[in-house]
Amino acid sequence: MIIAPSLLAADFTALSDELKLIEDARWLHLDVMDGHFVPNLSFGPMVIEAIRPLSSHVFDTHLMVSNPERLIDAYIDAGSDRITFHGEVESDIQSVLDHVKSRNIPVGLSIKPGSDVALIAPYLPQLDHVLVMSVEPGFGGQSFMHHSLEKISALKTLRENLEASFLIVVDGGINLENIDDVLAAGADVCVVGSSIFKAADPKAALKAFYDR
Ligand code: DX5
Ligand code: ZN
Repeated sequence: MIIAPSLLAADFTALSDELKLIEDARWLHLDVMDGHFVPNLSFGPMVIEAIRPLSSHVFDTHLMVSNPERLIDAYIDAGSDRITFHGEVESDIQSVLDHVKSRNIPVGLSIKPGSDVALIAPYLPQLDHVLVMSVEPGFGGQSFMHHSLEKISALKTLRENLEASFLIVVDGGINLENIDDVLAAGADVCVVGSSIFKAADPKAALKAFYDR
């Protein structure tokens, strides 16, 4: 199980300190929002560039943007180690996938709660990961949508049938109460924002996920 703390929930007045609190995590989830694909605007490549030297985490960049092809190079050049964009975009998905692969960066597709796995099924054999949104993208601190569990299980079955190797990442509203259901459904990576960074002691909160 990989826990990927989501920087969106961190204290942006003290990112260097916040990163130290989660140094026991292997991944860091970076939520990029363009104010168009989702009704929120988060951070540009310069923030990733600034924290890159401070962190040995795998930078797992989640592009909630309408035109990922316009931004991918900037976020990779800033230090992203993995790129996820959404299956709902109007861009040509295959060409965006090809471009990320041409940069030798692991790539994944994400689906919103209202989207079916069928939206991205044709691409599954070539994906390094799939990101199942268990909240409506755009904001941290929302409640977990339990119908996501069926989607996670369906992806796990598809992966077995296709003999594919993509990781299943689940993102949104994950806490100590629901994480066992998320893992039992088939998740390999759990993105956790508020339940870690908004805790009184984020370091202890992260440890509680590993020790539970
Ligand atoms: C929402 C983001 C999520 C969110 C997770 O659009 O993609 O990564 O930051 O934060 P929590 O765990 O608070 O839902
Ligand atoms: Zn995310």
